[in-house]
Amino acid sequence: MGGDRIEKASILLAGSDLAKSFGGVRAVSGVSFQLREGELLGIIGPNGSGKTTLVNLITGFLKPDAGRVHYRGRDITGWAPYKIVGLGIARTFQMVRPFYQLPAYKNLVVPLYSPRVKAMTGGKYGERDSVALDLLEEVGFERDSYVSYKVASSLPQGYLKRLELAKSMALRPDLLILDELFSGLSLAEVASIVPIIEKLRYQGKTIIMIEHRLKELFRIADRIMVLNYGEKIAEGSSDQVMESEAVKKAYLGSET
Ligand SMILES: Nc1ncnc2c1ncn2[C@@H]1O[C@H](COP(=O)(O)OP(=O)(O)OP(=O)(O)O)[C@@H](O)[C@H]1O
Ligand SMILES: [Mg+2]
Repeated sequence: MGGDRIEKASILLAGSDLAKSFGGVRAVSGVSFQLREGELLGIIGPNGSGKTTLVNLITGFLKPDAGRVHYRGRDITGWAPYKIVGLGIARTFQMVRPFYQLPAYKNLVVPLYSPRVKAMTGGKYGERDSVALDLLEEVGFERDSYVSYKVASSLPQGYLKRLELAKSMALRPDLLILDELFSGLSLAEVASIVPIIEKLRYQGKTIIMIEHRLKELFRIADRIMVLNYGEKIAEGSSDQVMESEAVKKAYLGSET
């Protein structure tokens, strides 16, 4: 990592020497990275390589055994998730987590009532239900189909993933972390979500995308970081990382 000096002011998020073990499993081991404001960083790696654990370390769902997380130059290591959300870091979950009994749009009530949104809007959100419906429309819930009013338990995976995205967008984050948003979706569904992510970037959001759908990720990511057995084994442009011998080796035999 010696060579890549980046102007300090533009770094939004930095992890240094992060480590987390579960029993004997070193899920994340000595991982350092930096993320510039406005950047889209892709994180890839075989199953079990530590991607979700790294997200949990950044977002406060897990405390690291070692290492630090800095956001806007501030040490946020070990902060509680709700405090980290308050700073403007939102995430989606690989396993969707809706309130299944509630209509889709009511799922957005929790983030829309969050202290962060309250503070940012000065209490003037507009009518919450209509804000929720607008957000769902933005992520592809067709306004005329009434799908936004259906209980989450009745929605197919494609909509649940979109709902997950809308929940994180409702928090008005500066940094969005998307953990396998595309998994379980058809090519057509992925193609319809990509422009939403591109739009978020034009709005100035910084994004981390964890993905197994490499083709789609490589098209939109600025930079790729590769994990394997908890360690960072490569970082750079998509071409650079795919040319790396360590990456070829990691993916051979471990991916179907
Ligand atoms: N809460 C936990 N308790 C015990 N082991 C865990 C826990 N969470 C993750 N692990 C282990 O840590 C390692 C990394 O898991 P992690 O979920 O971070 O990988 P991942 O890269 O996100 O994988 P995937 O691509 O399948 O989502 C795995 O060996 C996993 O079994
Ligand atoms: Mg994962």
